[in-house]
Amino acid sequence: MYFPHTRKRRLRQNQSIRNLSQEHRLSADDLIWPVFILDGFNRSEQVQSMPGVQRMSVDLLLDKLHKLVDKGLNAVALFPVVDKAFKSDDASEAWNPEGLVQKAVKTIKSEIPNLLVITDVALDPYTSHGQDGIINDQGQILNDVTIKALVMQAQSHADAGADMVAPSDMMDGRIGEIRAAFEQKKRHNVGILAYSAKYASVFYGPFRDAVGSAGNLGKSSKETYQMNPGNAREAIDEIQMDIDEGADMVMIKPGMPYLDIIKTAKDYFNVPICAYQVSGEYAMLQSAINNGFLDEKGAVMESLLCFKRAGCDAILTYYADRVIHWLDAS
Ligand code: PBG
Repeated sequence: MYFPHTRKRRLRQNQSIRNLSQEHRLSADDLIWPVFILDGFNRSEQVQSMPGVQRMSVDLLLDKLHKLVDKGLNAVALFPVVDKAFKSDDASEAWNPEGLVQKAVKTIKSEIPNLLVITDVALDPYTSHGQDGIINDQGQILNDVTIKALVMQAQSHADAGADMVAPSDMMDGRIGEIRAAFEQKKRHNVGILAYSAKYASVFYGPFRDAVGSAGNLGKSSKETYQMNPGNAREAIDEIQMDIDEGADMVMIKPGMPYLDIIKTAKDYFNVPICAYQVSGEYAMLQSAINNGFLDEKGAVMESLLCFKRAGCDAILTYYADRVIHWLDAS
């Protein structure tokens, strides 16, 4: 009879030894909570395709943020639900200093100064057609014209007090232009979290429902600027470009189906790597949970631990609020 000298099960036999030998962990420090904000006061709406996620006016959001920050939440990412009346072909509402996002940033930073506020830089909530850029008569997205608008949008977020801006538009060269504009205005400390490897993904469907851009976008796609899901090496070029242009942190998006890209990014680059567990991933998990097919806490915590194992430093997840409470209770 052959007895193995190495028994991997020795380090699995009880909780204490499993704790000692665990390589990766999830903590409240890793989380960024994406939230959908509404204009007005005391307003909250359920997002139909994301059961358990609400769009909220900023007063209601603040109540939640106070509690979450007490329990260790570091950062929030704001996504505005923009009224149809404010959408246009040139997206000019995007840099209105009194716009929904700009006002929300001011309020949150004045009430909870320690909470990092990250804003989305992209035109899709503000364009009448739902694309992330300015289009010409043929419907083509104009890269360099769009960048001028993105710079104004990013400046207005910085003016309002945003800690970091997160360009999610995937235009070529926008990180460099935004960085240059910030430096010129002496905004040396406003960071850029670049959505560098953002794929043209079906998993964004529920988000577009949540912010109300789905109807405007119709059947047109974002494939001329977001990445092809069949490509991996191209992500290295995208990330390299953004770092060279001044990105402080980079994002891979979606998350769970793209863990290979996260791993590659971690191996190649030294800046913090962030990933987004997007709306479709949330919808997938939550539908199974609500049907009783998956255990909620178990499934969510495992999915996020896997982001850490792949190499993530920070994770955007719609579960951040629940996870903070679970971690606090454990
Ligand atoms: C918009 C933006 C999108 C998401 C974040 N910022 C949607 C898109 O590119 O169509 C998706 C987030 C999610 O699905 O949770 N630029």
